[in-house]
Amino acid sequence: MSASTTMPAIAVYPGRADTVHLTELPRPTPGPGEALVRVRRVGVCGTDQEIIAALFGSPPTGSDELVLGHEVLGVVEATGPRTDGVREGDLVVATVRRPDGCPACLAGQPDMCVWQGFTERGIVGAHGYMVERFVEDVRHLVVLPPALESVGVLLEPLTVVEKALRQADLIQRRLASWAPKTALILGAGPIGLLGALLLRSRGIDVVVVARRPAPNPAAAIVEGCGGRYASLRETPLAELAADLPPFDLVFEATGVAQLAFEAMGVLGSNGVLVLLSNTGGDEVAPVPVARLNLGFVQGNKVLVGSVNAAHEDFTAGVADLGRFEELWPGLTARLITHRLNGFADVARIAGGIDEGIKAVIEFAQ
Ligand code: BGC
Repeated sequence: MSASTTMPAIAVYPGRADTVHLTELPRPTPGPGEALVRVRRVGVCGTDQEIIAALFGSPPTGSDELVLGHEVLGVVEATGPRTDGVREGDLVVATVRRPDGCPACLAGQPDMCVWQGFTERGIVGAHGYMVERFVEDVRHLVVLPPALESVGVLLEPLTVVEKALRQADLIQRRLASWAPKTALILGAGPIGLLGALLLRSRGIDVVVVARRPAPNPAAAIVEGCGGRYASLRETPLAELAADLPPFDLVFEATGVAQLAFEAMGVLGSNGVLVLLSNTGGDEVAPVPVARLNLGFVQGNKVLVGSVNAAHEDFTAGVADLGRFEELWPGLTARLITHRLNGFADVARIAGGIDEGIKAVIEFAQ
């Protein structure tokens, strides 16, 4: 019997809601500089849900389907010629964004793309990783130590906050001394929680606020790394902040645009507020413009948006995942609250995860 020339993948028809389905892709072979990766596990995130709801996403040129998935962990099965640094058997994560020819991309910063003509695997114009195997240029792969097998699928979402912190640190070179002591994180989804682990690992006092009252799995993770969790249902943000020292750093990761503006009101002097939510829609809300403006001027505050991540954020993230394990053994893996069974569970991808935090799809090896 000859080996099959195709392999299964999970796709949508972008622009049409609720079209998650199984499809087939040609089985790829690695060329020079490329590796063939067998997919082990893929995370499902808010962006995937937006693509499924037809609010976001586009297929590769010439196709009406988009294979989903941008949070991948896999194992290198074969390599083409000239693939230094990546070997058969390596545990790898692939980055998401591929450059266009804009000045930022040409300078090696596709995460800062100016022309917005980039592609993103599993999101914009390029197939993602919910597939049996994929081929990738080894420059877009990051090798992880085997000890990080259980948490490696969280590397890509971690890089979002790695970049956020790197941006804040770069911006704060304007200060003769920048040693953040206090941080507020809005949102207790995977991004907010990974942000909490990252900032706590740097010794920063962290308060995470979200809607759900404690106890809940997210609050337990915040407390597990020595942070504080508070429910906005119980205490409004301004009231909560009034009882705490000023925040040097704020990460907004709720997906609720209005909270980005509320966060502006609780940022401390010389502080940085990093906005991380991709908010769809065209919601309008009243904003206390004079008070917020004055606070920013008088307090030398910075508001910055941040998307995607650079290769250096992935390598920093590998080191930090290891550090999280040393500091709080087993805690990071508790973000994974739902495990779906590969291609057989395709119907469950589009579902919510109730009180859970992160769903991953396990692919049989
Ligand atoms: C991904 C980023 C991506 C962004 C916008 C996020 O879910 O983590 O890599 O740039 O979506 O497409």
